Formats: sequence, C-alpha cells, structure tokens
Amino acid sequence: MSNDPLLQPYRLKHLTLRNRIITTSHEPAYGDDGMPKDRYRLYHLERAKAGVAMVMTAGSASVSRDSPPVFSNLLVWKDEVVPWMRRLVDDCHEAGAAVMIQLSHLGRRTRWDKGDWLPVISATHEREPAHRATPKPAEDWDIARIIRDYADAAERMKAAGVDGIEFLCHGHLLDQFMSPLTNSLPAPYGGSLENRARLTLDMVAAVRERVGPEIILGLRYGVDEMEPGGIDIEEGLALGKLFRDSGMVDYLNINRSRIHTDPAMTDLIPVQGMRSAPHLDFAGRIRVEVGMPVIHASRIPDVATARHAVATGQVDLVGMTRAHMADPHIVRKIVEGREDDIRPCVGATYCLDRIYQGGMALCIHNPSTGREATQPHQIEKAGVRKKVVVVGAGPAGLEAARVAGERGHPVVVFEVADKPGGQVRLTAQSKRRAEMIGIIDWRLAQCQRLGVEFRFNTWAEAEDVLAEAPDVVVIATGGMPTTELLAEGNDLVVSAWDILSGDAKPGENVLIYDEAGDHAALQAAQVIAEAGGKVEVMTRDRTFSPEVMGMNLVPYMRALQDKTVTFTVTYRLDAVRRAGNRLEAVIGSDYMKLDKTQLHDQVVVNAGTQPLADLYFALKPVSGNRGAVDYDALIDGRPQPAVEGFQLFRIGDAVEARNTHAAIYDALRLVRTV
Ligand SMILES: Cc1cc2nc3c(=O)[nH]c(=O)nc-3n(C[C@H](O)[C@H](O)[C@H](O)COP(=O)(O)O)c2cc1C
Ligand code: SF4
Repeated sequence: MSNDPLLQPYRLKHLTLRNRIITTSHEPAYGDDGMPKDRYRLYHLERAKAGVAMVMTAGSASVSRDSPPVFSNLLVWKDEVVPWMRRLVDDCHEAGAAVMIQLSHLGRRTRWDKGDWLPVISATHEREPAHRATPKPAEDWDIARIIRDYADAAERMKAAGVDGIEFLCHGHLLDQFMSPLTNSLPAPYGGSLENRARLTLDMVAAVRERVGPEIILGLRYGVDEMEPGGIDIEEGLALGKLFRDSGMVDYLNINRSRIHTDPAMTDLIPVQGMRSAPHLDFAGRIRVEVGMPVIHASRIPDVATARHAVATGQVDLVGMTRAHMADPHIVRKIVEGREDDIRPCVGATYCLDRIYQGGMALCIHNPSTGREATQPHQIEKAGVRKKVVVVGAGPAGLEAARVAGERGHPVVVFEVADKPGGQVRLTAQSKRRAEMIGIIDWRLAQCQRLGVEFRFNTWAEAEDVLAEAPDVVVIATGGMPTTELLAEGNDLVVSAWDILSGDAKPGENVLIYDEAGDHAALQAAQVIAEAGGKVEVMTRDRTFSPEVMGMNLVPYMRALQDKTVTFTVTYRLDAVRRAGNRLEAVIGSDYMKLDKTQLHDQVVVNAGTQPLADLYFALKPVSGNRGAVDYDALIDGRPQPAVEGFQLFRIGDAVEARNTHAAIYDALRLVRTV
C-alpha cells in the first residue's frame, strides 16, 4: 500500500473514506428544475470513478421555499428530489466514493423576485451588498418553520442514501444569525454568542432527532470574519467548542473571511495571482484547539500543497474543488504516478464567476467539465489514422493538436511565433495573471507526449499546408486586435494589446475606450496607472467591463482604486484628432446628440480582435468541404461528413472573437470525431 499521506484511508465516525481528497460543496448550476438529473450525476460520478474519497454534492441546496435559488440551487424542499439524488448516490457509492450533500437556507443572500416571490428573511434589515433584498428580520414562526424545513430536507436526503449532510452557515441564514454584524434580533436568538448560535444548534438537534446517529453531520462556518465587529478568532473558537460540546456535530469545515461582497469572497476563495492555501495554517489551528475532525478548502490547487496539508496534520480531509473541475482524474493520476499529467487549475475562476451571472460553472480550459454526457473527458482512439495539420498554437490550436494526438493521428502544428500561446501568452505577461500560461504549458507537454510535431517561427502558406498531404486542416490562427471603429483618427490610437505587449509606451493622460468589455482594457489600465499615468476607462455600455465578472474584477479594483483611474459609462468615442501635441477625443452617446471633446496624450482602444483568416480563405476553394461545418453533427458528437480531398476547419478567434473556453471547446468537439 502507498505511504502517500493523501492516499491513506480516514475514518469519519462510522464512515471509512478511501483517501483524504474530497471535493467540497459547490453548486455548479447543473440542476434541471432544481433536480440533480443526469448532468449533475455524471459530473460527480466522473470524480467518484477517478478515486475521490467523497463528493460533497450540491452547494447550498435549498431547504425552504423562501430560500429561492439564486444560482440554480437544488430544491431539497421538494419530495421529487429523492429519486434523483438516490441514483446519484448509488452510482457514486458503486464507484467507491462517499456522498454527502450541503443544505442551506440562504437568508438574505438571494432575491425576492426568484422562485415564489416570498419575502426574504434574515436576522437583520440590512441588505447583503452582493444581493438586492432588504430582508425582514425573522419572526418566531419563521424560525420554527425553517427548523422544521431543515429536518424535513435531512429526512429526504436520508431516504436518498447520503452518508452525511453538511449545513452551510457561512454567509447564509445560520451565519446571519451567528454574526454580530448581521444579527439585530432580541433574545433568545440575538445578543450573546449562545443566543446567536441558537438557531444552528436548535436546527442540528431537530435534524439529529429526525435522522438518527447514523448520518454524518458537519458545519461549514466562517471561524473568523476578518472584519471589525464580526466573529473574530476567539468567538469562532468558542462557536467551534459549542458545536463540539453539543455532541451532535461530527466535523467542522473551516472558512475564513466573509462572502457578502466580491472582495470578501476572494479572500475566502482566492483567484489567480492571490496566495495559495492562505487559510491552511488557520484551519490547522482550529483543528488543534477545538479538537474535531477538520475539512478545509481554499485554493489548494496542486497535489504538493494538498499533500503538505494532510502530512502536517492541518486538515483531516483536503478539499480540491476547482482543481477537480479542471481535472476530475487527480486521484487516479496520483495513484498511477502521473501527477505531471494533471491538468492544472489556473485559478481563473471563470467557473464560480459564471454561476453568479446565471450561467453553469464551466472551467476555462476543460470544456468536458459539466458536459460529461456529450463531451467525455476521455478521448477515444480513432479507427483510421489521418494526417492532421493545425495552423496556430494558441489555446485552440494546441487543443486541436492534443485531441488529434490522443486520437492517434500524426499531427503537425505550424506557428508563426517562436513559442506557443497566442493571446494567452500575452495575458500571462501580467504578473497577476501569469498562471494562465498553465493552459498552454499543459497542452504543450501533452502534445509532446503524444508525438505532435511543432514548426515554430513558420508562417504557413497554403502550399506549406498542402505539402503535408493532410486529411484534415484546422486553422487556429487567432485574431489581431482591431482599433478600426472610429469615424476619424483610427491611425492615432493604440490597442490595449499594444500596451500589454510593450509595443506602446504608457501615456500620462490616457483615455481607454472599451468596446470589448473584457480583461484587456483593465489590464492596460493597470499597466498605465502603475506607470504613473492618469486613466479614464470609457464605455458605451451601462456598466464597465461587463465581461470581467465579479471575483475577477476584485484584483483590478484593488490595483486601481488608489490610483488616478476613473470609469465613465454610457459614452462613446466617435473620433480622435490631433490637437497640437495632444489628441482631441470626440465623445458621443447612444442616448442623445452630444457636442463634447476632451484632451488626452494617448487614446487606447479595446475592441477585441478581427479574425486572421487569410490562410483559411486561401485553402477553402481547394478543400473537400469548402470549410463548411455540419452543425448538427458537431453538436450531436458525430463525425463531419466525409468528403473528397481534405477537410478544412476554422476554430477559435480565427472565426470570431470569443474567449478561451470557446476556443478550446471549438477544438475539442470538432477534433474528437476526426
Ligand atoms: C462553482 C462553485 C460553486 C460553489 N458553491 C459553493 C456553495 O454553494 N457552498 C459552499 O459552501 N461553497 C461553494 N463553493 C466553494 C467551494 O466549496 C470551495 O470552498 C472553494 O472553491 C475553494 O476551494 P478550491 O480552491 O479547492 O476550489 C463553490 C465553488 C465553486 C467553484
Ligand atoms: S475556471 Fe479556472 S479556477 Fe475554475 S476550475 Fe477552471 S482553471 Fe480552475
């Protein structure tokens, strides 16, 4: 048996777990009408089959009707959840993993216009900044009803066969009661620590009575809110001891910070560029001082850190949650001595940001996650070997080459630059986003393992491609930043990419006009502001940087707010003219006719990219399919129709400007059937 600390079994009460690696609860928004149907089940099953010790399903599955789903939470207040959950549990059990579920009442962390339009409740009138409800402080009948709801939900989960239930306190109703920052109730549920913890303890008692001693019960709570007036470490420890002494709780899942704002949330769940495992020592301290089994997850993205967490006794079970969204096969790869093959979580937090915007959790560079039914993680070998030529070694091209290599095809990649990476390499030049290069490095290493041949520093013409006698050609030549959107003065402006690449020196008084609304404008703003420049970021949109979602915005604001950077929304840049040694920006609006100009010494335009597709159009007439893609076949996962001659495809930004996930997804679903 291995002596790897991560692979040692662990006994949690009566439950024996096969190793120490778990996925903590995370609502991926894969539910269908609030039910964990096939997409949900297959997602967890993938991890279970690959060896994870326990899957904590759901994230804050809703126990009450007045806890409406803000990110497609499961609706555990419905009886119909039982058979769906039963199937998920049975399948994961058969694969050897334990299954728990996290239940919650969101309290004020929701909206009143979701679900049944019931009033939102909390222990305060104050709204949570991240949501817009101004809640009603709970009345006695609310409290009695909600405790009953928790017990009913727990009974349903027992019927579904789960091994345990975790109650999420942190930031949700239970914690809104526990924290002095959000509890303005009178006794017996407000005031002293015991009073504030009463709802949690009354609820756990009701659940225990209903489900008996055989089910694991755990609490996930913010042991230290890291905010004046909030739960501090002393109170957090006292709470832990209250839970321990109740004799009803089997483990603690340790969180730190708050989740009521995006910045607080990133301190709990750090994004790329932030420290790894920032609260690990803290979790270890709670484990020692409270003396209970401890689970903890907070940016433990790699096996070495996870191993350290367990080996040093900081945690009993280590959560690698986003890491498993990037690669569900981590445990299998550890067992097989293939740690180098693990697809790295680069901390982009595209996954989490998406659910707060109403989308499904998708990994920026693993399009199979959440699409297990249609885009399995394993690539099957092809029946017939074909010569595949890929042009461009950005994320799309590298993924095409990797997938073709996995299929067993001989692959040649042409790339004009001396290194792979395209726009991702440029992005990764910002120190804070340096981890993005993991998207490229992992694919390059996989391609090398698969024998893909690279021709760097090569501008491929149609003849070069045809000289390879290809069966399939994939054009992934990406795009070039465009600034051509002004009525006058396009030649006077630079692109955000010019600033990022260093081709243009940052100016002193700069207007950044942002049409694309993506990272590039903010990255450029950061470069200019850090060089001492004054920056105005202007957009015609209603909000600035609409493509940079909540948690991803945090590092930018932390870098920019103490510098001379302003944001102007709902205005348009129409033209730029020379005015002596300065530039005159002509400002327009979609709302009214304006007569407005302003002076700057540099104007930066961020308007996305235009496809670089000359090679595609040169090859199109001589290709067998004339570049056409059968969308029904693509979406259904069937091969593209056979043709005389070679098949020609265009993917990623070479088709139109989209994002990294879209580029990689284009490549995966097309090439996996080649
Ligand atoms: C898409 C997504 C949804 C999440 N939803 C929840 C949730 O509902 N409840 C919860 O306690 N934690 C939730 N989390 C937090 C995770 O459990 C975990 O604490 C966090 O991702 C940090 O661990 P990691 O760095 O290993 O990913 C979510 C995380 C992600 C990525
Ligand atoms: S989107 Fe980023 S943070 Fe989320 S799982 Fe993928 S690589 Fe990790």
